[in-house]
Amino acid sequence: MCGGDPMAGNNNSLAILFGSQTGNAEELAENTKKIADKAGLEAQVFDMDGFNVNDLAKHKRILVITSTWGEGEMPDNAEDLWGAVCDTSPSLSGVNYSVCAIGDTSYDEFCQAGIDWDNKLHELGATRTTDIQLCDVDFEPEWQSWVDKAVPAMAALQIVVEAAEEAPAEEPVVEEVKVEKATGKSEWSAKNPYMTEITENYILNGEGSRKETRHIVFALGDSGMDYKVGDALGVIAENPPHIVDELIEVQGWDKDLAVSTHAGNRTLYEALKKDYEVHMANKKFVKSLAEKVVSSGMKINMSMVSRTRNNSSWHASEDESAPPTLRPSVPSADPEAQVEAITADTKSIEDYLWTRDYIDIMREFDVKYTAEEFLEIADRLKPRLYSIASSHDAHPGFVELTVGIVRFSYNGRARGGLCTQYMADEINTSGAPIGVFMSPTKSFVLPEDKDTDIIMLGPGTGIAPFRAFMEQRVHDGGSGKNWLFFGDQSSKTEFYYKETIEEWIDNGDLYRFTTAWSRDQEEKIYVQHRLKEHGAEVWEWFERGAYFYICGDKQYMAKDVHRALIEIAMEHGDMSEDDATHFIEKTMMKEQKRYLRDVY
Ligand SMILES: Cc1cc2nc3c(=O)[nH]c(=O)nc-3n(C[C@H](O)[C@H](O)[C@H](O)COP(=O)(O)OP(=O)(O)OC[C@H]3O[C@@H](n4cnc5c(N)ncnc54)[C@H](O)[C@@H]3O)c2cc1C
Ligand SMILES: Cc1cc2nc3c(=O)[nH]c(=O)nc-3n(C[C@H](O)[C@H](O)[C@H](O)COP(=O)(O)O)c2cc1C
Repeated sequence: MCGGDPMAGNNNSLAILFGSQTGNAEELAENTKKIADKAGLEAQVFDMDGFNVNDLAKHKRILVITSTWGEGEMPDNAEDLWGAVCDTSPSLSGVNYSVCAIGDTSYDEFCQAGIDWDNKLHELGATRTTDIQLCDVDFEPEWQSWVDKAVPAMAALQIVVEAAEEAPAEEPVVEEVKVEKATGKSEWSAKNPYMTEITENYILNGEGSRKETRHIVFALGDSGMDYKVGDALGVIAENPPHIVDELIEVQGWDKDLAVSTHAGNRTLYEALKKDYEVHMANKKFVKSLAEKVVSSGMKINMSMVSRTRNNSSWHASEDESAPPTLRPSVPSADPEAQVEAITADTKSIEDYLWTRDYIDIMREFDVKYTAEEFLEIADRLKPRLYSIASSHDAHPGFVELTVGIVRFSYNGRARGGLCTQYMADEINTSGAPIGVFMSPTKSFVLPEDKDTDIIMLGPGTGIAPFRAFMEQRVHDGGSGKNWLFFGDQSSKTEFYYKETIEEWIDNGDLYRFTTAWSRDQEEKIYVQHRLKEHGAEVWEWFERGAYFYICGDKQYMAKDVHRALIEIAMEHGDMSEDDATHFIEKTMMKEQKRYLRDVY
């Protein structure tokens, strides 16, 4: 994508470089371009993948928007450029830049890739026009505040271009060949997924389970794709046809309308099905209601029956027709006041959105959007990642996943997760094509030394990479011992891969297997409790150099396990709390890299 004509003959050009794995930073880059163009700049968006390091100095205005992956690492598409910048250290004097970093504060190395770019560009002599912006998961407002400063600062720069400095020569066009690149990086990506089929898809839960967890197998066919244990598979879903149909009907749109989206020219129907997330409404849409409601003066039509979110539940009664956070301070028949109450703060918007999708909201406020207006607001459809549950050595030509299907129901309509429902209901083993790509990990890997012991802790779908690890360890041989902690609600209904696990135990491949069934007894028992119970032995393993792996829920489980590890170091390693924290977080995690996480 690099090349083009960034500087030739004008001094208004702006290069927007994005580093992005699942599309968030890319979408922000496109949105930044729209704002920059309006500010009189000639902005061009560049995927860092394929951007020539020698072209950096030729762009006098550069905005970098990047996410962070792994443990503070670059997203895949930024790896090569970052490596080339570090290797060649080009002089960037005369270049003006600003960085917007997106990340997640629940990771230790928050926005580290963006911070690295910010420092590196400065170190190479470029001028920072506005400070780096670090954005958390809900990145839109922070990005907005960055773009509000960064774009005017870029537009205000007077850049005189010398003829000799003009655009780099066009690079020869290389015919696209679908094979592994020399770098070992797969040609298949989120933008260019390999279209394959699901060959096996079955429920792992026993009868009566409250959950639906599936084992799903994809064929790798002639893709030439390889993977190692610890990697994740990217899956590209489509919206359910009934939601697209209903949305079109509620808004009275023409499904054959020709529209232009980031994916090209399509019919409206196709764009709604493939390019945007229309199964769940976003905050931007709720905020846009204010203007719509004022301009049309319609009546509100709100009714809620119940809501459960963040462990607190509410049910409608005669006295309370809406949950406390959503109860307006003025009569609900006034739509303007109602929108004001809903949009009062982030929490009330989130509460409101928890039980409603676009169709509910459009009905509730009886609002009409043009198709173009709606596409401008809706989020782009993003791929979902799944930890691979198989070893390629054990299943050549296939990749297997353990997927928890997301299903729920509100306002009398069955809903659910975009990708999990797509895999469970629409694609299944119908032979319909589904797009996939590999998302390799650099950090969540097995110890090189096959004689090293490992402890794996993965409740629920967190077992996925450990099924793969076990298959690989069995395939590779070696004397390293394996200890698996697993758990879920009940041994009767959630004992995923039971027979395989029993076989590993019988064959001596799985040295220790510890379970935590939360609902099989009065008190709730989780994996972190089992870990602590076995603290003395866990500590012995750590002292012998064992690796510790965790996979699964980031919000609660991973935090509790982290705390349990610190307590084990205090109790069995005889350490103060500070020393124990240092040992777990710095020594094991950062220096020795033997406490490794795949949490989501
Ligand atoms: C590196 C990585 C590895 C992963 N590995 C796995 C794996 O091995 N197995 C696995 O199953 N998943 C895994 N995930 C999670 C996976 O990527 C998806 O996020 C998950 O499957 C949900 O996707 P979805 O498209 O079906 O749901 P989405 O359409 O993304 O919807 C999920 C959202 O629905 C909302 N929601 C959920 N329940 C309710 C409710 N009751 N009421 C209202 N709203 C609700 C929540 O906001 C939730 O975030 C992994 C994620 C990452 C990043
Ligand atoms: C496996 C994984 C690892 C991540 N590691 C980090 C991290 O170390 N630091 C951080 O700030 N954010 C981290 N994130 C959060 C991503 O940066 C964030 O989800 C971002 O919005 C992704 O944007 P993208 O789609 O443009 O890649 C991680 C996310 C995942 C799923």
